[in-house]
Amino acid sequence: MAVTMVLDHPLVQHKVAIMRDKTTGTKAFKELVKELATLITYEATRDLALRDVKVETPVATANCKMLQGRKLAIVPILRAGLGMVEGVQTIIPAAKVGHIGLYRDPETLKPVEYYCKMPPDIGERDVFVVDPMLATGGSACDAIRLIKERGAKNIKFLGLIAAPEGIAKLRAEHPDVDIYVAALDEKLNDHGYIVPGLGDAGDRIFGTK
Ligand code: PRP
Ligand code: URA
Repeated sequence: MAVTMVLDHPLVQHKVAIMRDKTTGTKAFKELVKELATLITYEATRDLALRDVKVETPVATANCKMLQGRKLAIVPILRAGLGMVEGVQTIIPAAKVGHIGLYRDPETLKPVEYYCKMPPDIGERDVFVVDPMLATGGSACDAIRLIKERGAKNIKFLGLIAAPEGIAKLRAEHPDVDIYVAALDEKLNDHGYIVPGLGDAGDRIFGTK
């Protein structure tokens, strides 16, 4: 059974509160997205496999653990997912980065694909799909389908704010994908925006509105 985790850490809740505030400007918003991405990655990497190693300290030999070193990839959903990449890389710097360009048609709310570029060995990598918003779930589901079509098997979704509708759709279409988010909100409004949410994540990260 895949994981669905809403992080309840005090630092996460504090940063989400500031990020939601409509008076928070682009610079601070971008920084918070990055910091939250790091904190979520910390939780989402809890199951990384370890191997035993012996380390010579200045005093004695220590029996330690190090990462087995599976190959990882970060795949942001453009545009807003880009804001999370640096935060994920802070703790998994060796991960390759793929990009998927999707935007939601404002009328149908369905995702429209305009770009897809993956590392050539994506099928051998564990993949972290990142996007701050999981609203209807259409974008995340399509992105994950595109990644699975290229052979990836172990995929996690990392987001900041989710609506119940988005979680339900992602669970139904991709029951194998673990979901990690910083907050689970009440509902979607008639325009497919998360309520209370934080508005348009892409616009707030890139200052386009
Ligand atoms: C936002 C967000 C997600 C999507 C979520 O992107 O970053 O990708 O909406 O909505 P969904 O769950 O209903 O699909 P948007 O389409 O606004 O594009 P942008 O990131 O380029 O602004
Ligand atoms: N995309 C956003 O950026 N915000 C929402 O609330 C829903 C989709």
